[in-house]
Amino acid sequence: MDNLLKIQNCNKHFEGNKALDDFSCEINRNEIVGLIGPNGAGKSTLFNVITGFILIDSGKINFDKNNITNKGPSKINKYGISRTFQDLRLIRQMTVLDNILLSFKKQPGEHLENVFFQNKKVKNIEFENKKKALELLKYACISEKAYELANDLSYGQQKLLSIICCLASDAQLLLLDEPIAGINPAMIEKILSIITELPKQGRSVILIEHNMDAVSQVCNRVIFMDAGKKISEGTSEEVRNDPRVIEAYLD
Ligand SMILES: Nc1ncnc2c1ncn2[C@@H]1O[C@H](COP(=O)(O)OP(=O)(O)OP(=O)(O)O)[C@@H](O)[C@H]1O
Ligand SMILES: [Mg+2]
Repeated sequence: MDNLLKIQNCNKHFEGNKALDDFSCEINRNEIVGLIGPNGAGKSTLFNVITGFILIDSGKINFDKNNITNKGPSKINKYGISRTFQDLRLIRQMTVLDNILLSFKKQPGEHLENVFFQNKKVKNIEFENKKKALELLKYACISEKAYELANDLSYGQQKLLSIICCLASDAQLLLLDEPIAGINPAMIEKILSIITELPKQGRSVILIEHNMDAVSQVCNRVIFMDAGKKISEGTSEEVRNDPRVIEAYLD
């Protein structure tokens, strides 16, 4: 199997509380892995340490042959990892289109010279980014929302937008933190169908989700964690029937 992400013996504690306890796992290219576990198990913390939002106490994280351990979020994003947040973190007073434009890797405004000299190259990048952003909105069937404020979208549409922002970054690995929690069944199906397509585009996904039916529907493999530890790993069927998993949920 072609290994994309390798997490080795990661530990993270918060004031005596072990959020990650010697956690190791591997994610292969073009696979969708479900990350499940009870509230407080450490799932979002794992996303935070992979993406550099939280520093680990010990352990090692490799992505695509690069050691990304405790590198900053923007550097890790440039390596090709993008994420959504459980609380979305869209820029609510900006339009849908502008939220997507901010997610592109090539940002002409990042270089000072481009702020002062709006040359042809800058205009071309802006034109290409806008074209791609509009294509992504079309793909997600919300083209008509392009010029609305993110704040005015329904909760389900905001969740969809946060995934579109992730897609715009051209990341090879997408970390999706509860992308379908609290939304209607039609939007759930739309988001799951977008996730299912990602391996065909050369992308891998880690999906944190409490909805086991959805996990079974889209994930090739499932990892169950509890109290910062990996307890079980396998197909969704294997994990569901693992006595250690049943016990953890009954506790
Ligand atoms: N920034 C932080 N500061 C202090 N404690 C934290 C922080 N982030 C997480 N924790 C603690 O670490 C543990 C794991 O939290 P985490 O958010 O990773 O769980 P989770 O599996 O994502 O849960 P949920 O399903 O409820 O989202 C919890 O006990 C939580 O209170
Ligand atoms: Mg969480």
